Amino acid sequence: MTLATQVNDQQQSITISGLNKSYDHTAKGELHYILKDVNLTIKSGEFFVLLGPSGCGKSTLLNMIAGFVSKTDGQLKVGKSEVEKPGQDRAVVFQQADASLFPWLNVRQNVEFGLKMKKVDKARRNEISSYYIELVGLQGHEQKYPRELSGGMKQRVQLARVLANDSSILLMDEPFGALDAMTRRTMQKELSHIWRQTGKTVIFVTHDISEAVLLGQRIGIMSRGPNSKVTDIYDVPLHYPRDPGQPDFIKLEKTIQAHFDHEYSI
Ligand SMILES: Nc1ncnc2c1ncn2[C@@H]1O[C@H](COP(=O)(O)OP(=O)(O)OP(=O)(O)O)[C@@H](O)[C@H]1O
Ligand SMILES: [Mg+2]
Repeated sequence: MTLATQVNDQQQSITISGLNKSYDHTAKGELHYILKDVNLTIKSGEFFVLLGPSGCGKSTLLNMIAGFVSKTDGQLKVGKSEVEKPGQDRAVVFQQADASLFPWLNVRQNVEFGLKMKKVDKARRNEISSYYIELVGLQGHEQKYPRELSGGMKQRVQLARVLANDSSILLMDEPFGALDAMTRRTMQKELSHIWRQTGKTVIFVTHDISEAVLLGQRIGIMSRGPNSKVTDIYDVPLHYPRDPGQPDFIKLEKTIQAHFDHEYSI
């Protein structure tokens, strides 16, 4: 069972072309680019995984799509519109859960926050939040405040809130990194299931090649920064739900690992 709704809107494609991002200048006074000439088209309803070394600019790119970080130049569109600010259509699971939880709201209130903003009535809010709180394994902790939770628990509150909000685009920045292996497995299965049922567009950042192959339809590899870009894209032609023990799964995992070893060994 899921409470997420089917996405009918086909306007949730993401078009990135010649996109550059610089935060500062080099000693010579030239722009110092974190991202340089990023080109990427993500189809509406696609599950796209971004893989790349630490510090290459994955979070920066995701936050630009979210509308939290402005571009230096180039094109970045969601549907037909250039991204200028955050919107209801895009929900973000941040790498640091602390960045998104309201410290003065308890678990249930945090999960229900977006629903309240959308004026969903109390009974329905309760039904939806209970469902997702249970899904992420936080039942019994509804009344706790963020300061009373561990890092992994905070991350699960964030996930429950994003799923409860039911946006058509999910931007997920290493969302399962802080979770224990069993919870991670459950969340991976559930996210994949929700995505297949609803047709949401998902961009999922991870360091974990096995997680990338388990979830993604395509996997984009980013080069080491500065001047990072999406250099290669792998298709994952495996049926869902996927089995990490299957020979084709292992083969693709090894191919991508070899790519990484080669690209980042210097
Ligand atoms: N607000 C900022 N001002 C200046 N530089 C920044 C800012 N945010 C990020 N950077 C720089 O941009 C680069 C990319 O950072 P980003 O957080 O996007 O990397 P990442 O690929 O997400 O890394 P990780 O895998 O470790 O999370 C880094 O060199 C970082 O220092
Ligand atoms: Mg990051």
